[in-house]
Amino acid sequence: MGDLNPTQQRIRELAREKDVIILAHNYQVPEVQDIADIIGDSLVLAMKATKAKQSVILFCGVDFMAESAKALSPEKKVIHPVPGAQCPMAHMVDVESLERFKEQHPGASVVAYVNTTAEIKAHSDICCTSANAVKVVASLPEGEVIMVPDTNLGAYVQSQLPDKKVLLWPGYCHVHQNITVEQIEAEKAKHPDALVIVHPECTMDVIELADRVASTEGMLRFAVESESREFIIGTEEGLAYRLSNEVPGKVFHRLETAICPNMKKIRLEDVLKALEDMGPEIYLDPAIIEGNRLPLERMLAVK
Ligand code: 13P
Ligand code: SF4
Repeated sequence: MGDLNPTQQRIRELAREKDVIILAHNYQVPEVQDIADIIGDSLVLAMKATKAKQSVILFCGVDFMAESAKALSPEKKVIHPVPGAQCPMAHMVDVESLERFKEQHPGASVVAYVNTTAEIKAHSDICCTSANAVKVVASLPEGEVIMVPDTNLGAYVQSQLPDKKVLLWPGYCHVHQNITVEQIEAEKAKHPDALVIVHPECTMDVIELADRVASTEGMLRFAVESESREFIIGTEEGLAYRLSNEVPGKVFHRLETAICPNMKKIRLEDVLKALEDMGPEIYLDPAIIEGNRLPLERMLAVK
């Protein structure tokens, strides 16, 4: 991270003046990461949103992340600078289809990945992120669990918890779905000493090649703690910027084709305009906020 440019300095001034905390996901472009108060994965950002002392949260990430911040802190104003920055996977499950699936499996509890709409969360029992999905499912008394919408995350959780029956949903993240065994093997051939770290949204054949499966924040922790000096990063390439800043002296090999176009929609100019206008703001129906609170709080209570 270098010195702030004039736009970045103006953003920091406005955030201070207007009592705004800026949260940015690990996949945001470097110049946006540089002006954030907190950078993190979905779980870290959800927790920080609940603890923020500022009255306004400006969320640099995709739609569901900003919605979760609003559901957890309804008294705060939550600004999402580019409303079109939406996670396509979050829209791969709709309430009607989920309710039909629930009727077919009446004993199963419903775990909604945070990468879902607020409406879906309101129809679930508990939420999870990639960081805590295994712990969340393990914490449930029910043996049968419906996981929506990511089929790959569901399959990974199933592989870790053989005593559970995880009912999968056919959603996926196009960025992680497109990471292939061939790509990872080609990187390993180029960097034979590197450890492979992959996200649980990857397919099982890719996961099987990994030395570690982790959320984006878990990847950072692993890189800090590991004795290895070189890593192949099986997730969206934006994380590499944070890794290089926060884990100096180690080398991170990105997969250059792993780019989430929605995460990249937020530019510095959008953040500046959002602070000047104090919008666009996230609005959620009070009934949806109420319906989201329990599944999100149950997730945050899982240790
Ligand atoms: P993390 O919670 O691991 O950062 O993942 C969020 C996400 O959108 C992955 O694609
Ligand atoms: Fe959604 Fe995948 Fe982008 Fe994450 S990387 S926001 S899961 S499309």
